[in-house]
Amino acid sequence: MPFPNRRLRRLRTSEKMRQLVRQTTLSPEDFVCPVFVQEDLEARINVESMSDIQRLPLSDVNDEIKKIIDLGIPAIMLFGIPSHKDDAGSSAFDDDGIVQKAISQIRTEFGDNIVIMADVCLCQFTSTGHCGIIQGDIIDNDASIETLAKIAVSQAKAGVDTVSPSAMMDGQVAAIRKALDDNGFTTVSIMSHSAKHCSSFYSPFRDAALCAPKFGDRKTYQVPYSNARESMMEVEEDIGEGVDIVMIKPALSYLDLISETRRRFDIPISAYSVSGEYALVKAASQLGYVNERDITLEILYSIKRAGADMIVTYFAKSAAKFLQES
Ligand code: PBG
Repeated sequence: MPFPNRRLRRLRTSEKMRQLVRQTTLSPEDFVCPVFVQEDLEARINVESMSDIQRLPLSDVNDEIKKIIDLGIPAIMLFGIPSHKDDAGSSAFDDDGIVQKAISQIRTEFGDNIVIMADVCLCQFTSTGHCGIIQGDIIDNDASIETLAKIAVSQAKAGVDTVSPSAMMDGQVAAIRKALDDNGFTTVSIMSHSAKHCSSFYSPFRDAALCAPKFGDRKTYQVPYSNARESMMEVEEDIGEGVDIVMIKPALSYLDLISETRRRFDIPISAYSVSGEYALVKAASQLGYVNERDITLEILYSIKRAGADMIVTYFAKSAAKFLQES
């Protein structure tokens, strides 16, 4: 029915009318809020490249979680920064490690009022800054997944709800699922960074988590950003290995892959809007080139519209406030 009978502007006449026909919704319930906790820290430290993001001492973590809960955000993603790094990444699976301590402290204080997710990786914990165990000059896949499984089990013992492997080792989901089940943690879920691309958008995070690789790069394990079908194979592999939630990462330059995953699979999809996406917006807003509120909401809506069920985002708190105000 062409113009003049069809006038699409009729349903855009007022804010209420636009609400009525809104096809995508965005709410604080869609967010997973990253939290950085650093061992042996006395006071919060601002992350220079990520305005308003801080590394917290353990003693500040519960305050932060309270704020996140009060904003209506249902989940956090914990990243730990240990004092001790070694070749085996041993602080990552220490039952008294910084992440394990944070998990049990949060669980004790807040019970089931927050979904506790934790990153399962080695890069913050290894002296090399790589996401796996090094043998010679290669990252040994099969040795690495054994360690990742140990990390997941130690986090499960501390009371984590969901472990989130981000190392991009083949078979990491299967290894973790088996180790969790063998240790009786059959209800702990896995949200894998399934299609994690080798991206320049991670640079500010490496500042935040002190995990830049000391040599080389992550090209031998992360997916090349040119390869969409390879990403879909990663997602399919993880589903085959028993993952509960798949992830596409980064988000904003990868909306095609989020919608392709939505089209192909019925599993819950998370999108990780990474540090670089955040840093670009914050920097441009501080320069007055864009309106922070408007651009933040537009970006998050677009990630939902592409098909994500949830968004891991450094905007979680600020966007929740914007949504409450609107
Ligand atoms: C490492 C890890 C990275 C991020 C999450 N986990 C960095 C990397 O792969 O170098 C990036 C997150 C972000 O940029 O916000 N396991």
